[in-house]
Amino acid sequence: CGIVGYIGFDDVKEIILGGLEKLEYRGYDSAGIAIVNNNQVYVCKEKGRIAKLRDCLDKNVTGTIGIGHTRWATHGEPNKINSHPHQSSSMRFTLVHNGIIENENELRKKYLNGTNFTSDTDTEVIVQLIEKFVNDGESVELAIRHTMSELEGSYALAILDREDMGTLYAAKNKTPLLAGRGSGFNMIGSDAMAMINHTNSFYEIEDKEFLKITKDSIEIYSIYGNQVMREPYIADIDASDTEKGTYSHYMMKEIEEQPFVIRKIMSEYSDEKGQMCMDSSIIDNVRNCDKLYIIACGTSYHAGLIGKQFFEKISDKPTEVVIASEFIYNMPLLTKNPLFMFISQSGETADCRAVLVKVKEMGYRTLTLTNVKGSTLSRESDNTLLLYAGPEIAVASTKAYTAQIAVLSILSSLVNNKININIFKELSKIAYTMETLCDDKENYKELAEKYLVNSRNCFYIGRSMDYFVCLEASLKLKEISYIQTEGFAAGELKHGTIALIEQNTPVIAVITQECINLNTRSNIKEVKARGAATMVISMRSLSQETDEIVIDDINELLAPLATIIPTQYLAYYAALLKNCDIDKPRNLAKSVTVE
Ligand code: G6P
Repeated sequence: CGIVGYIGFDDVKEIILGGLEKLEYRGYDSAGIAIVNNNQVYVCKEKGRIAKLRDCLDKNVTGTIGIGHTRWATHGEPNKINSHPHQSSSMRFTLVHNGIIENENELRKKYLNGTNFTSDTDTEVIVQLIEKFVNDGESVELAIRHTMSELEGSYALAILDREDMGTLYAAKNKTPLLAGRGSGFNMIGSDAMAMINHTNSFYEIEDKEFLKITKDSIEIYSIYGNQVMREPYIADIDASDTEKGTYSHYMMKEIEEQPFVIRKIMSEYSDEKGQMCMDSSIIDNVRNCDKLYIIACGTSYHAGLIGKQFFEKISDKPTEVVIASEFIYNMPLLTKNPLFMFISQSGETADCRAVLVKVKEMGYRTLTLTNVKGSTLSRESDNTLLLYAGPEIAVASTKAYTAQIAVLSILSSLVNNKININIFKELSKIAYTMETLCDDKENYKELAEKYLVNSRNCFYIGRSMDYFVCLEASLKLKEISYIQTEGFAAGELKHGTIALIEQNTPVIAVITQECINLNTRSNIKEVKARGAATMVISMRSLSQETDEIVIDDINELLAPLATIIPTQYLAYYAALLKNCDIDKPRNLAKSVTVE
């Protein structure tokens, strides 16, 4: 979910709606807005996208203080009643919430017997508790802090009090929240992007902090009421980076930005002589650990699998990759001197953060690779490496994935380059290869039409480095086109899943590694013999005349950076031809800030 709030002099409607549109990547099951005017709170909420909320909004309502919410449903189905904002029984307090309250049932029993709840959400408990404590005689501030002390779980809150049009309240625990400082106005939001059209000056908010905001001041307090003094920081974001320009989808724009991103990363990680360089303490930390543990989710996890190959093959550093949400239960046996590396485009994924908190408690060193400067994971780990991919808006990650792989390749070769690979030379070549691949998109469109659009399911197969690309390629295709797709180690398909191959089931093979060429080609024959419609993505020196997509020769270890490009396009065109919502696929959110 995403939240935004404004207090100032302008009419809030457009400010809140604009902020919510920027936050829509965090969930789009429903959206809502609350505006205070003349001691009345106007609330409008709708199931579905912000665009729908915009249509339903009463254009005549104006106000200079308001809050908004875009939801990724956790508690209660995504209908209008469960949409935020939620209000207390007397309607005095109105609140939006990002997070999950784990002890909602205990709180209902302990404090709220007899209260009439209108929704199925955990959020309503928060707003009712605030009202109860105020009715018990506490000040609004105390009631909010008292409520915070009762809550177990995660929350970023924005709260309006109908009886005080001059104050906006906010609070945070375990989910992201920033306060934006303006001139004659102030804001809060789940990220900087939601406010960047109005200000670039932000206060970071820590867990269990409470905010009292007026149009002229932002006061930060601990949960105990002690004021915290903190300097704002200036965010270096270009608001126009978040626009689609002439592209019809963010995903297409982001796919085509990849050659530029690789070059940008090379320039960010080079010294004045053009030599590759990075913060030496980061290099030393990786060098000195006895094992690297990479923690990530989704696409970032897939980049981590490739990173493991770099650290083991280039730097000789033992590396293990663990899905963040599994770490707590299936914690690997740790070595004496581990280093934990978090890979996260957003730097906000709650599953990663839970591991970060845990390993910090255990006293271990941490490093985050993220696209978002100042994000929670970045702030809370010992070191950060930025991806420099620019804002990634489409829910399906593309340029952040290749940026992660590029940064991992640079880091691994700086740690120890036992195979003497010239990473910058290879990356330059890859940036160029990426461009030629992008030029061939009409071919991918035809292939998507021929192989994918009418298919119920699909398989990607590959070995060695190609296998990891298959995992990511299949995630891309399934998440945006809803074609059930699995990525397989090519040798493994025959051990069971081959039973699913029917007449015309598409099987896409990736072949970029010389040592596996013949084996994977045998696997293609096995599925073809059983009726599969096979397609091959290969590297030129290994290619056969019938291969559908051929990539110019590049270094085999880094080949995933190029191979992924046609698969991103295949996913894009399959989704386009099936009329799917490419940038906002159903049920997903770009940044998942709940565990
Ligand atoms: C969500 C997104 C995925 C993403 C994953 C990890 O599930 O839908 O595309 O890969 O989160 O996100 P992160 O920001 O940590 O890389």
